[in-house]
Parts: sequence; C-alpha cells; structure tokens
Amino acid sequence: MTARLLTVDAAAPDAAVISEAAAALRAGCLVAFPTETVYGLGANALDPVAVARIFAAKGRPATNPLIVHVTGPAQALELAAVWPPEAVLLAQRFWPGPLSLVLPRTGRVCDAVTGGGPTVALRMPAHPVALALLEAAGVPAAAPSANRSTRLSPTTAQHVARQLGGQIDIILDAGPCAGGIESTVLDLTTLPPRVLRPGLITAAEISAVIAMPVESGGHMPRRRGQPAKSPGQMARHYAPLTRLVLTPPDQLTAPACGRAAYVLLSTEEPAGAVETIRLPSDPRRYAARLYATLHHLDELGLDVIVVEMPPDTPDWAAVRDRLMRAAR
Ligand code: TXA
Ligand code: MG
Repeated sequence: MTARLLTVDAAAPDAAVISEAAAALRAGCLVAFPTETVYGLGANALDPVAVARIFAAKGRPATNPLIVHVTGPAQALELAAVWPPEAVLLAQRFWPGPLSLVLPRTGRVCDAVTGGGPTVALRMPAHPVALALLEAAGVPAAAPSANRSTRLSPTTAQHVARQLGGQIDIILDAGPCAGGIESTVLDLTTLPPRVLRPGLITAAEISAVIAMPVESGGHMPRRRGQPAKSPGQMARHYAPLTRLVLTPPDQLTAPACGRAAYVLLSTEEPAGAVETIRLPSDPRRYAARLYATLHHLDELGLDVIVVEMPPDTPDWAAVRDRLMRAAR
C-alpha cells in the first residue's frame, strides 16, 4: 500500500476532501492528519481492529496507550467516566489546544486504545483540518504522532510519508504544524494533578487555571505488564537516527569527531561544522522548528548532531525533555 497524499487548505479545508478522509476513518482505515502540535496517525477510536493497525504501523508496544482526539467536552464526556471541576476549567481555558487530559475511562473506549488500563487521555486539537475531520467522521480518533515508535515526530506530511507512507491509507497534507512538539499530558486521576509529559502548555499555566499546585517530572514507577503511565518509561524516544549529543553553551568550541552539525542558541561559530543552525531563543518558537531541523539534519548522513542545551528554566522544560530523550 502507498498512502494517498491529499492536499488540503490549513485554514479552510475543502469539504469534499475532508468527507472522503472521514469516510475512510469511519471505515477502519488509517488517516494521518495535521494538528497544531505534530501530525497524528488517526484511527476510529471505537474500532479495536483499526486501532490495532496503528500499533502495527508504528511498531509501538501495545502497553503504550494512545491519545484520543475529540470534537470537544461533549464528546469527551462519552469517553471519560468522570469529568472533574479541573477538567471543566482546563477545557474551557485550553481547548481546543495542546493539552491532553488523563481521566478514568468509560466502556466505550476500547482496551486497544488504553493498553487495557483504566484511564484514557483526551484532547481537542486546535487545527481546523483535525477538527473538520473529527466533526465529519462523527467518531473520536485515536492518534499518536505519525512516526515509527521511538523515532522523530513528524511536523510535515512529507515526514509522515517517509516513515509510514507504506503502511497507511491517507495522509492529509496541510503544510507544517505551527506548534512543533507534542501536547502536554496531564494526569487528572491523582490529586494534585501531575504533568506526565511536558508540552507547550506549562505546569504553571495549568496551576493558575485550577488554583492548585501541579506536580511535574518524576515519572511514576509501574508494575511489569501494566500500561505505561507516561511516555517517560520509554528510554529512547523522539530520536533522530544520527547520534545526538547535548552540550552546555561553554563547551561548544571543542570540535566534535567526524562530520558534525550544530544546533545553537548562542552566536558561537564551531570550527569544522558541516552545517550550523541557529534556533530562536524563545522556547515556543524554538519548539516550532526543533523536529523539522532534526529531520533535515538526519538526512545529511552525519556522524553526530551537537545541540546546545537550552537553559534549565520552566519555560524550556518541554524542549529539554525532548532533547534529553533524543540524546539517549
Ligand atoms: O500533540 C500530541 O499529543 C500528538 C498529536 C498527534 O495529538 N499526539 C501524540 O501521541 O503525541 P503519542 O501517542 O505519540 O503520545 C501520547 C502519549 C503517550 O506516550 C502515552 O504515554 C501518553 O500520551 N498517554 C496516552 N494515554 C495515556 C493514559 N491513559 N495514561 C497516561 N498516559 C497516556
Ligand atoms: Mg509520539
């Protein structure tokens, strides 16, 4: 199979294209679609056979649960057994947007989505194409990032086609994603709530909305065979194939061995670099370009990608998390 690439306007998606993709999704096909964070690999979340195809295409362990994408709180309520006051406030403030809420699930959610676990992660994406697809399909879509397991997440349809083109039915191409890294995953089954994966919405922003402290980091241990509570249990994740090394700003001038490219915040000029890329010093603008930069450098057949480590401050937490996983 080779995926059909359907081009669609990001702001005003063509109804005929959306309706074709929605029919395919409902019928059990895999449809990759853009979100405001990264491209997702979507399947009908109510169809266990379709969901199983996601795991097969990605080579993803069945114990790593999927995020379910919904049209809003009303559809979320069909899938979550409880909808606590914190969920009400957070959905009001951040949906549609890059925040996934983990809640106890109802029987409508199939075991394949949750890895058999008792909770489900839900989010309403902010991309017009994703929302139009969900509305037209009339079913929620389970959608992990549309990459092979452990590899770099896709921020363009071409990234999706390169990794998964042979395994999926349709790719909706609406150009590059604006956010660039995956949603914040927040566990609302514990009090205080806990950030399981940092993202574009910070723990401080969440805390301000629900007026209570929010735990972050320090992934919970899990029992063998139980579904992962967070992506943190997978050692290598979001990684290019090329070796990636993180370096503090003051050690950049030490030349790397072999053919090296540098990804920098500072204005250093490392000697002998095959390519030097400077990313914005604003964390959100940096995040928007991170994966696309690494996808590009990964194509060059380098020996090493040297990345200058951004500062250890809360606004850089999500970017640092992705970089540390990519460097393992
Ligand atoms: O921005 C995003 O979240 C993108 C776009 C496509 O929406 N999706 C995404 O999905 O990053 P994925 O599958 O690559 O990452 C979802 C993470 C998983 O690593 C998983 O550990 C966590 O969310 N997760 C999913 N369901 C969960 C649950 N029930 N409990 C705890 N964590 C869960
Ligand atoms: Mg992923």
